[in-house]
Amino acid sequence: MSKKVLLLPGDGIGPEIVAEAERVLDLVNDKLGLGLETDHALVGGSAIDATGVPLPDETLDKAKASDAILLGAVGGPKWDELDMSIRPEKGLLGLRSNLELFGNLRPAILYPQLASASTLKPEVVSGLDILIVRELTGGIYFGQPRGVRTLENGERQGYNTYVYSESEIKRIAKVAFEAAQKRNGKLCSVDKANVLEVTVLWREILDDMAKDYPDVELSHMYVDNAAMQLVRAPKQFDVMVTGNMFGDILSDAAAMLTGSIGMLPSASLDENNKGMYEPCHGSAPDIAGQGIANPLATILSVAMMLRYSLSENKAADLIEDAVSKVLDQGLRTADIFSEGSTKVSTKEMGDAVVAALESLV
Ligand code: IPM
Ligand code: MG
Repeated sequence: MSKKVLLLPGDGIGPEIVAEAERVLDLVNDKLGLGLETDHALVGGSAIDATGVPLPDETLDKAKASDAILLGAVGGPKWDELDMSIRPEKGLLGLRSNLELFGNLRPAILYPQLASASTLKPEVVSGLDILIVRELTGGIYFGQPRGVRTLENGERQGYNTYVYSESEIKRIAKVAFEAAQKRNGKLCSVDKANVLEVTVLWREILDDMAKDYPDVELSHMYVDNAAMQLVRAPKQFDVMVTGNMFGDILSDAAAMLTGSIGMLPSASLDENNKGMYEPCHGSAPDIAGQGIANPLATILSVAMMLRYSLSENKAADLIEDAVSKVLDQGLRTADIFSEGSTKVSTKEMGDAVVAALESLV
């Protein structure tokens, strides 16, 4: 039976970058005879405009029925005034929670060709290869109760709840320990165990589980220190594991080490490695429609999708090689442009990756 891939372009630059990624996916599908079937659906602001809700039932049904999902980005100023419950971001969060995509893998790899694009000194970042494992369906993002209430004195109070149950901690820790086993055997768990009980429990569970992974060296770090260490000496890290909100923040910081968040793919996986794949960056409304966004994070997300959810390692390798090749050619979108390289548009970058792939397959 053929496998199904659902494409969710979303908002802002989403449709522009997903269009290029789709060309890449179609090419490997065709040339390598992968037999994948692709379909499209609405999510986020574009879904609100068309149907009134950020995650229409039709989209969720299609997502459930597919083997893997590629998402562009959601959100933008047009929908910022809407009530929290129907904002575009709810579409993304709804997909993550309904599909139980609790394991978010965010690799931060510095391509040698881009060493000068980072705002950090080349010696600090050269050779950087970190994997952030972020818990994605729990923590303060989803904890109940939440809201804004009015106190007896008439003052309004906003509140959210930071909760993690043992099973939630165990399943994300398992993903992280196993990832560390496949890499350099180092796992740093990031918490705020000097203040927050929920992360004291997190730390205890990680320590317990470490006994089952004698080949992994586990360390713990407070999140404030981890933020500092990421910009001070990022190469000390191999795999980092953390909760939903800390992971959101640290993964943006890690992304910038590589020169541009426009380069970073991500995978969000469930227990069975069914997954949703997204670039780490957002919808970038400031540059939407200009055709200048970097499609490489989305194209690299296709590679991750082929590897993790579709077991097509060869196709994944080819896409990554093609991206490396276009970087060797000196082609750069505006976000990674530096003196001496050639500035290209979103579409030209897509063309170049497609051409490189054609020469490789
Ligand atoms: C991310 C994004 C999302 C998040 C937003 C768009 C809800 O920042 O994937 O990192 O906070 O998880
Ligand atoms: Mg984020």
